[in-house]
Amino acid sequence: MTGDDRLVARGGRRVAATPPIRVAATPPMGWNSWNLCGGAVDEDTLIAMADACVAHGLRDAGYTYIVIDDLWQGGRDRSGHLYPDAPRFPHGMKALADEIHARDLKVGLYADAGVRTCGGAPGSGGHEAVDARMFASWGVDFVKYDYCHAPADRPSAIRLYSAMGEALAATGRPIVFSICEWGRRQPWLWAAGAGGHTWRTSYDLIDTWDTPTDSNAGNGIMTNLDATAPLAAYAGPGRWNDPDMLVVGLGGAGQSGGRGCTDGEYRTQMSMWCLLAAPLIASCDLRHMTEATLETLTNREIIAVNQDTLGRQGTRVAREGDREIWAKPLRDGSVAVGLLNRGAWAARITAEWTSLGLSGPRQVRDLWKHADLGVVERSVHADVGGHGAAILRLTPCS
Ligand code: GLA
Repeated sequence: MTGDDRLVARGGRRVAATPPIRVAATPPMGWNSWNLCGGAVDEDTLIAMADACVAHGLRDAGYTYIVIDDLWQGGRDRSGHLYPDAPRFPHGMKALADEIHARDLKVGLYADAGVRTCGGAPGSGGHEAVDARMFASWGVDFVKYDYCHAPADRPSAIRLYSAMGEALAATGRPIVFSICEWGRRQPWLWAAGAGGHTWRTSYDLIDTWDTPTDSNAGNGIMTNLDATAPLAAYAGPGRWNDPDMLVVGLGGAGQSGGRGCTDGEYRTQMSMWCLLAAPLIASCDLRHMTEATLETLTNREIIAVNQDTLGRQGTRVAREGDREIWAKPLRDGSVAVGLLNRGAWAARITAEWTSLGLSGPRQVRDLWKHADLGVVERSVHADVGGHGAAILRLTPCS
């Protein structure tokens, strides 16, 4: 695009149009170390995970960011620079980032707006500029910025997040800024203004189907879905609600908490995260995935719903007991419809065109079954297993 292309005529004058979005134009996709590795994260594991991401086709399906979560730090030296834990990162962060980039992947790194991270490592509060420059010099492409050991009030959070947002922008490097204050201060209202591209809506997701409330003891998949459902108006290209990582394939392993979910429940998380236009950050062991896990994470038709460039977050359009109907408008005029069964037993779920705001015939495709279901006039239905979801793409007949 030339400079001139970005000028639009408005009322006879030529004014600058909104600049193109440099990062997170669609929801970021990748892998994060926290659920699996916790404080045992190290460079060998990260490189092995990057290799597995490539070898199993996840990179080519869109999973680009390898995010190094908390406890990579060794400390802060006398000149004020953060450094990694030497035994676990003997070659340093730049060398590790080079390895990850050499695999055509991108690098994410965790830091915290307070004085210490949630795991107790040095925080970046008051060191924003020096840390942002350091991250950029290492080649970091994504910063997850947590909020432990930081003042509880919203103005302080806005100030601290803006300080890092500005410091990252000042490096000139395109860096996704991922805000993680768990939705406590309604970040959907201010995080984009602080430079954020994604913001957590809720407390940490653990490897379980459902929990009673949004609580820092850990949330289930349905809990974070419900916390994020009302926030569709705040999402769009460059700004996404984040209901936390995918637990798909974790199987109770690692240290996220939770005993694990069934393959069907994991598929439902993938379905709903795609309808929510949520970041798709896997957290299972990419070196040892079952066929079901791989199929769930790499279903390109489902991922296309998440990555659709219109950037609309889907909404719940109808609910009756355990049966829910969700809809996400797509760039080409299609609608992705989710039929979610929260109950334990199979149920038939029917979506009427009236509840979807549609009229006229639609071509229907089942995106999990990769099957065309033909032309339909006014409603579709599916028999959906317990804790299951179907995703149908309804395309106008040309
Ligand atoms: C917080 C975040 C988690 C993880 C840990 C690391 O709990 O919400 O996602 O980053 O900190 O300590």
